[in-house]
Amino acid sequence: MKNIVVLVSGGGTNLQRIIDCIESGEITNAQISLVVADRECFGLERAAKHGIKTQLIPRGTLFSSKLSQILPENTDLIVLAGFLSILNKEFCESFKGKIINIHPALLPKFGGKGMWGHHVHDAVLEAGEKESGATVHYVTSGIDEGEIILQKSFPITENETAETLAQKIHQVEFEIFPKAINLVLNNY
Ligand code: GRF
Repeated sequence: MKNIVVLVSGGGTNLQRIIDCIESGEITNAQISLVVADRECFGLERAAKHGIKTQLIPRGTLFSSKLSQILPENTDLIVLAGFLSILNKEFCESFKGKIINIHPALLPKFGGKGMWGHHVHDAVLEAGEKESGATVHYVTSGIDEGEIILQKSFPITENETAETLAQKIHQVEFEIFPKAINLVLNNY
């Protein structure tokens, strides 16, 4: 059984999807051993409701070192599911190949500092892009720069807004995130 630690900052619908996929067997051979948040958020409540251990480490410069202190020793994968803090270089390097993130755009475009939430969707619409989507990638110390694991796109329609984009992207995320986790942990 592989052990996953999930990091969240917000509503946690991707966390919920991962929990549901583990419970339904869509994600195999895995369990969530801990959910860590960098602020009070609904993601913590979702985890608690499923009997998953939670921990709050306030965001700030000490986050990464505090996280490495409490991380269970047997952690196989760290999953960033709507997590807004930046993990420091030392942390990213010591868990190289073991941290993945989901990003609400088609990387390498529309990534990097400040590119989160509606900022991403606004930038995509302003650039007149013909498509958007979601990307699951490895986390390295360069923000949103790690190797891409899975990506899925869809066409942008004429009346698209940041809100409609966000909704469509969430659906894509629910599809590719569990697949990426199976790929990384179980090789399929
Ligand atoms: C997702 O769109 C994800 O791509 C981004 O933050 C959002 C998190 O949503 N990193 P939720 O908290 O999982 O609902």
